[in-house]
Amino acid sequence: SVLEMEVEQINKGHYEHYMQKEINEQPESLTTTMRGRLIRRGSNIPKSVLLGGLKDHLKTIRRSRRIVFIGCGTSYNAALAARPILEELSGVPVTMEIASDLLDREGPIYREDTAIFVSQSGETADTLLALQYALDNGALCVGITNTVGSAIARNTHCGVHINAGAEIGVASTKAYTSQIVVMVMLALAIGGDTISYQARREAIIDGLFDLPNKVREVLKLDQEMKDLAKQLIAEQSLLVFGRGYNYATALEGALKVKEVALMHSEGILAGEMKHGPLALVDENLPIVVVATRDACFSKQQSVIQQLHARKGRLIVMCSKGDAASVRPNEHCRVIEVPQVEDCLQPVINVVPLQLLAYHLTVLRGYNVDQPRNLAKSVTTQ
Ligand code: G6P
Repeated sequence: SVLEMEVEQINKGHYEHYMQKEINEQPESLTTTMRGRLIRRGSNIPKSVLLGGLKDHLKTIRRSRRIVFIGCGTSYNAALAARPILEELSGVPVTMEIASDLLDREGPIYREDTAIFVSQSGETADTLLALQYALDNGALCVGITNTVGSAIARNTHCGVHINAGAEIGVASTKAYTSQIVVMVMLALAIGGDTISYQARREAIIDGLFDLPNKVREVLKLDQEMKDLAKQLIAEQSLLVFGRGYNYATALEGALKVKEVALMHSEGILAGEMKHGPLALVDENLPIVVVATRDACFSKQQSVIQQLHARKGRLIVMCSKGDAASVRPNEHCRVIEVPQVEDCLQPVINVVPLQLLAYHLTVLRGYNVDQPRNLAKSVTTQ
């Protein structure tokens, strides 16, 4: 109806699509996610994190034998992005489960496990069934959702709301970055406050405070990503290489492109390049390589060199100031992004890929907010 259309226009503000609005509102959604949860240093208390919904369970989580992340789609990717920092700060082994696969295998879940369920809607059928399965097996179940009162929020023992605000676009964008931030805060909370980690923890907390500003900065790449989308408009396929903290960025960037732009895209763990993907490399297939500064930087440089040696058509995402060193020839495009603390870098790096997917979709003439065959919340198995 006309009224519904007008309401929709008001909700979208000056944006043309919800996805575009939600990508652009990430500085604000991240601020809301962190509000009241980061504690600045007091006279004799160090900087710290307060997650009210978890505080009575932190001891149990720290003592668990294993932490298992369980989710689907973008929510799974967000957990994958947070996995390394959770392992580092907690020392507890962290494993990953796609909800449907855990159910297919009836994989082992024990009383000594902490199972963390990540879901924007809190209603995804597979994730909900995996939750029932983990409850039956006696694990401590933690929910990370964006929807207060959702089934996953209600049925877990404890949890954290990401408070990203309603997400309307079927392809998740702002929920993804808020999920990562919540899981980084969770890692800080579980990690406790051992002296040896104090500097690292404080650097991450400072990085969190500054993150919305850095996201504002990376959003300025909008026009550049639109130009890149124009170059890629008629492609059949796009590969995205990442590793370490940014393996998740590769998977999530590729997921955005296939979901909305209806273009085949695959996120590839760069360490596996030689075990298959290298066979695909030629002058035509576009490849995004995420190579921002972190502990994997030099390994990723050698991946870039090997791709160049095979005349790969590269789009390298690097940290500000690194363009000259990663662009050995004029056939290679560079996307420079602001550098942040390594575990927060996936929040920054996904933004240009969200923008790229968005512009590709609009240019190709597809429905951005409701991609063909997909639903926002998949409530059937
Ligand atoms: C659907 C949506 C995705 C979402 C996934 C998991 O596939 O289209 O955007 O990532 O479900 O949804 P959840 O609500 O559990 O995060």
